[in-house]
Amino acid sequence: MITIDKSGCKPFANEQQINSYMDKALKGFDTLESGSGAGNDFIGWNHLPSTITKEVMDEYKDVVSRWQAMNIDTVVVIGIGGSYLGAKAAISALGHNFTAKLSNKGMHILFAGSNMSEDYLAELTDVIEDRNTACVVISKSGTTTEPAVAFRIVKQYIEQKYGMEESAERIVAVTDRNRGALKSLATAQGYTTFVIEDNIGGRYSVLTPVGLLAIALAGYDIDAMVRGAQEAEKVCSERSESNPSIQYAALRNMLYDAGYKTEILVNYNPRLLYVSEWWKQLFGESEGKDGKGIFPASVTNTTDLHSMGQYIQEGERTLFETVLHVASCRREMLIPFDKDNLDNLNYLAGRRVEECNEAAMNATIIAHIDGGVPQIKVEIPSMDEFNLGWLFYFFEKACGISGYVLGVNPFNQPGVEAYKKNMFALLGKPGYEELAAELKKRL
Ligand code: PA5
Repeated sequence: MITIDKSGCKPFANEQQINSYMDKALKGFDTLESGSGAGNDFIGWNHLPSTITKEVMDEYKDVVSRWQAMNIDTVVVIGIGGSYLGAKAAISALGHNFTAKLSNKGMHILFAGSNMSEDYLAELTDVIEDRNTACVVISKSGTTTEPAVAFRIVKQYIEQKYGMEESAERIVAVTDRNRGALKSLATAQGYTTFVIEDNIGGRYSVLTPVGLLAIALAGYDIDAMVRGAQEAEKVCSERSESNPSIQYAALRNMLYDAGYKTEILVNYNPRLLYVSEWWKQLFGESEGKDGKGIFPASVTNTTDLHSMGQYIQEGERTLFETVLHVASCRREMLIPFDKDNLDNLNYLAGRRVEECNEAAMNATIIAHIDGGVPQIKVEIPSMDEFNLGWLFYFFEKACGISGYVLGVNPFNQPGVEAYKKNMFALLGKPGYEELAAELKKRL
């Protein structure tokens, strides 16, 4: 269960203001639940967890078993934006800080297709050279250039190494049911294919094959993750002021309207870096449109207290923070006693490192409130599959509600097309000749 602590907003807003935004968030919730809002053909994620059956989960597990039987140790997961960030967030958050090997019994997941860096792809081939490799390629549209380029390279590599017939056993496609180049290619080559339903956009798709297949291949318990999401769906579907997704949507919109235009998601565990990246995409792509939207940023503390801390404490006062607090950590590490005490740290001897981390968090929250930065605290009991499933669903629900409070369509991303058109023109894609001529004059 996730809880929201709004006490860090109180110095900046009175009860009446908070209540009036709770009313707005309840209306946003109604719009989402009734399916009457903009983008309502993309809310298939809203009551998805409760419809996930054992049969669906078994299909993901079948791929895991098949590839385990082939001794596959490395899987290249290809996708960009919503087609990779959920899996990347989960695998980073659940894994080991230093090595994939120690973290689980699953396969080593390498991500590709989320950038256009030649070095990145060349170095990927260095890594997979001596590995027993398979590939999951994920693209809802099936036409996105970054993953398509990466897939062409990885596909050829796998085909040359293992032969055409075996390659079909080593490649799985996750894409649209009927449309797109990836769908045609997968059908022609006979790849196992999973469908991303039409009514679920990329950034809301972590609990579909887009996220769950890669997470299962990495060795994590996707049943527990879905159970967490199912519990979250139940709690976050209550039309009540105690619903944490309604509370969060209310508080962030209240702060935005009061001039706090940037929200910083704060964590105190480097494992959560990609949870922040996933959250930034979810909220940034959902709300940043029509000249509006909270700018989503993130920091990982205490690291960033020594880089961004100065700005947050004393820079332009348009920031608020949402602290993602994980109440317990997985390991215990005590600070040792030192008989010489030359570093003067014996006052901490015998105490847990996490106690220092908590003290840093509480000290920072108070300092930032004093510096004029409102604080929302989102607390989860621990970072495991169940609670991560909870967190994913909670943020998705809050984002849908929040977008409606803001007055935008939280489920489209028209602005993403602008760079794509220009890139196609500059690369000489047929059909873009006129735009190419125009752009070249500007370069
Ligand atoms: O959230 C979204 O819809 C986007 O970020 C997409 O996931 C991203 O652009 C990748 O698209 P596709 O899966 O069609 O390749």
